[in-house]
Amino acid sequence: MSEEFSIGIDLGTTYSCLAYIDDNNEPVVERNYEHEDTTPSVILFNDVGEKLVGSSAKDMFLMYSSDRFVLDIKRKMGTDYSVDIDGIRYTPPTLSGLILRKLLKDFEENHGLDEGSVKSAVITVPAYFGQEEREATVNAGRIAGLEEVTLLNEPTAAAICFGFGNNQGGPKKVLVYDLGGGTFDVTVLQIDGKSFTAIATDGQRLMGGKDWDAALKQIIIGKIAEMSGLSEGEIEADNDIMEALVLDSEDLKKRLSTSESTRGTMTIGGRKVTYTVTREEFEDATRHLIDSTADTVEEVLNSKNLTVGDIDAFLLVGGSSRMPQVKSVISSRFPGANIKIYDPDQSIAKGAAVYCKSRDVLSDAKAEIKQQMDAQQTAPADETEMASRVDEVAMSTDDAIVVHNVLSKSLGVKAGDGNGNEYISNIVFRDVTLPLVENRTYYPYVDGQLSVEVEIFENSARNNEDGMRVELADATLVGSFPMKLPEDVTKNTPINIRFTVNDDGMVFAYVECKDQHAEYNLKTKTSMTDEEIRKYRGIVEHGLI
Ligand SMILES: Nc1ncnc2c1ncn2[C@@H]1O[C@H](COP(=O)(O)OP(=O)(O)OP(=O)(O)O)[C@@H](O)[C@H]1O
Ligand SMILES: [Mg+2]
Repeated sequence: MSEEFSIGIDLGTTYSCLAYIDDNNEPVVERNYEHEDTTPSVILFNDVGEKLVGSSAKDMFLMYSSDRFVLDIKRKMGTDYSVDIDGIRYTPPTLSGLILRKLLKDFEENHGLDEGSVKSAVITVPAYFGQEEREATVNAGRIAGLEEVTLLNEPTAAAICFGFGNNQGGPKKVLVYDLGGGTFDVTVLQIDGKSFTAIATDGQRLMGGKDWDAALKQIIIGKIAEMSGLSEGEIEADNDIMEALVLDSEDLKKRLSTSESTRGTMTIGGRKVTYTVTREEFEDATRHLIDSTADTVEEVLNSKNLTVGDIDAFLLVGGSSRMPQVKSVISSRFPGANIKIYDPDQSIAKGAAVYCKSRDVLSDAKAEIKQQMDAQQTAPADETEMASRVDEVAMSTDDAIVVHNVLSKSLGVKAGDGNGNEYISNIVFRDVTLPLVENRTYYPYVDGQLSVEVEIFENSARNNEDGMRVELADATLVGSFPMKLPEDVTKNTPINIRFTVNDDGMVFAYVECKDQHAEYNLKTKTSMTDEEIRKYRGIVEHGLI
């Protein structure tokens, strides 16, 4: 069968979810083989060469040693982390590729499709993912067998899902608060009918349900220490107890979302110990975590001079938003906020499916517009002009939506003041709506300089006076290329650098100095060749059950 599906995947730190657009044109979540709406992002390499993903892996948690499991791989995306298992080296894109393959495989089976026949999907990423993490996610999709991978920011996906059914009543501003398993994102978006424009975004990479689990684990350790007569240190040294507590603390946490108090048991030295944890104890121990998420919300609002009154709805998404403390702290910190706990586990995957459908219905129009523009030889194709022409078509096309993200990180080049001091001079800034084109002029250090090395750095500076120049130590090198200068340059010859960032956040640099020019597509360290992708795809497919 070659039926085309519009598929959205929320590739989460702890749980992943796949949705598609059904025959009624509605986004629906596809249940996995285990009949669950969401699949734990857990991988087990068992002792007979099989790879298990999801609950079948999570359920084995106490049966295999921890070095045969991979958890929280999303936190490692874009880094050079790797793990060796049974003589094979696995990198984050391959491990995430395994999770994606499992979701796609279950979808294909449920729909009677040949294995590997789904070739295209939208995958969501945290809004503040930079170039490296984004490229690693695209590679994960390719390793899972996809040929066309489009990324979408998670909060935008949640807003699309919300806006999909609620597009009456004029323009709205919504704030998406996404507290998941491992990451935390806040984004303010403007929704106007079919159009979704991000205005500001921020987040904390290492903040999520995991941290609440860890706090609860400490409470439990204290309790069972008291009851068993062992010290906390002795309990922490016991691997069996600590491993059991990983799952227990998450279970107890979820129960505390509905009950004021709950119980757990643990066998210690042959004796069964039963302990009780109250919601109050749990909330007290995690107050600082929730407060820090509220601080991020405040920063995002402040960065655009917004007040609570400007926001029509606060959408709380992500599984951790189910904890009652989230709503209570947000409503007391932001009095008057219209808070909605919005389809916490599924809205992101569903929004991604809606976006995928839109991308699919617009793909011909987009190709045609690009062809026309290429024929007119506006080189390089003007991304902003192209985007506005596609938007026009989208506004009058059924099932199409218009989505504009903001740039997640500021980007600049290394420059110097001529006195040996080097810094990053920012050219494009975070929170500016994409696509964008920006120019800045620089000068050679000395007369007769033969070439310059253009080094592009990513950083979190905001677009204000302080953000124009950033210390080298606060920025990450994401790409560099050489540029030959004309022979007769002087210190006063302008070198113009233009950064173009397209809708998907892909960066293109164009440098001009008199009659010389150089151009560069920002390619990240994690770039993989087709051959590498094929190799890892083979590894992923081998033994995945
Ligand atoms: N009823 C509940 N009460 C408290 N926490 C819950 C509840 N249900 C799920 N969670 C927590 O929500 C988290 C998973 O949420 P979600 O699926 O949104 O995260 P994710 O997508 O895996 O992570 P991220 O978005 O950070 O990559 C887990 O930490 C889980 O324990
Ligand atoms: Mg998530």
